[in-house]
Amino acid sequence: MSNDPIYMTKTGEIAEIVLNRPDKLNALNAEVWQGIIDLFGQAGADDEVKVVILRSSAPRAFAAGADISEFPIVHATAESAGAYHDKIRTAYDAICNLNKPTIAMIRGVCFGGGCAIALNCDLRYADTTSRFCIPPARLGIAYSLMETKRLSDLIGPSRAKEMLMGAKVIEAQEALAIGLATRLFDPDELEAGTQEFAQNLCNLSQFTIRAVKTMVSEISGGATDETDTSRRLRSEGFQGADYIEGRDAFLEKRKASFTYR
Ligand code: COA
Repeated sequence: MSNDPIYMTKTGEIAEIVLNRPDKLNALNAEVWQGIIDLFGQAGADDEVKVVILRSSAPRAFAAGADISEFPIVHATAESAGAYHDKIRTAYDAICNLNKPTIAMIRGVCFGGGCAIALNCDLRYADTTSRFCIPPARLGIAYSLMETKRLSDLIGPSRAKEMLMGAKVIEAQEALAIGLATRLFDPDELEAGTQEFAQNLCNLSQFTIRAVKTMVSEISGGATDETDTSRRLRSEGFQGADYIEGRDAFLEKRKASFTYR
């Protein structure tokens, strides 16, 4: 077990990036934000890795948000505040723009920046102890436009307003009902359920999986019709090795073995 506040492990084609400040409920300090940037970068560059799970070493928290004890230092000057917020934005982008599927595996507290990093993942697999909250209204600060959009796109503008204006805590069942959690598990089944789906992703075509990620991202960015990128992907798909393998495997009644990286 590492003492680092964030670390990565790899089992086969699945990487796990682990938030590891259990005494502070994984409050996200500067070192952790930098770790997110570095480790998601490493996972992206590693051809062996097909799926990334973002998780916690703490049993009762995914993450309790940005480390508030650092606020007086990081917000001491306009320059230091700007650099701090740039770093956080870079960390969100490192998760969101990774060209591989990401699953946040969530137990317990998922607050503030913890909720934001979970929202930057493709999927949120949570257990029934999970509680979600984004509480800038308790601190008198404005939440960023990008993260407000991400929340609003996911759960709708009214629920996003309710959650943000009211610093409202959303319990696990409600989180599932409104789409904040993608799937809900009993606590002792979360790990196996997450691993099972991650492994399923590893066995499918990475070309298709990455194309899905790109298409949904284009839609979130405002696309309402085919774009140059979507046309290129559609055309490349039918010329790719994964398509030939998938088609032949179906016709030959065998399991496909995809190779795209
Ligand atoms: N920043 C810094 N430290 C934090 C933290 C944060 N966001 N969230 C929790 N911690 C620390 C606590 O200070 C405490 O440390 P200590 O034992 O040295 O005093 C430890 O983590 C455990 O937290 P505690 O508050 O005792 O746990 P709890 O179960 O009573 O409450 C929360 C859990 C999440 C409700 C509560 O910690 C909380 O409201 N945290 C702040 C959440 C927040 O506002 N996040 C957004 C930041 S922008």
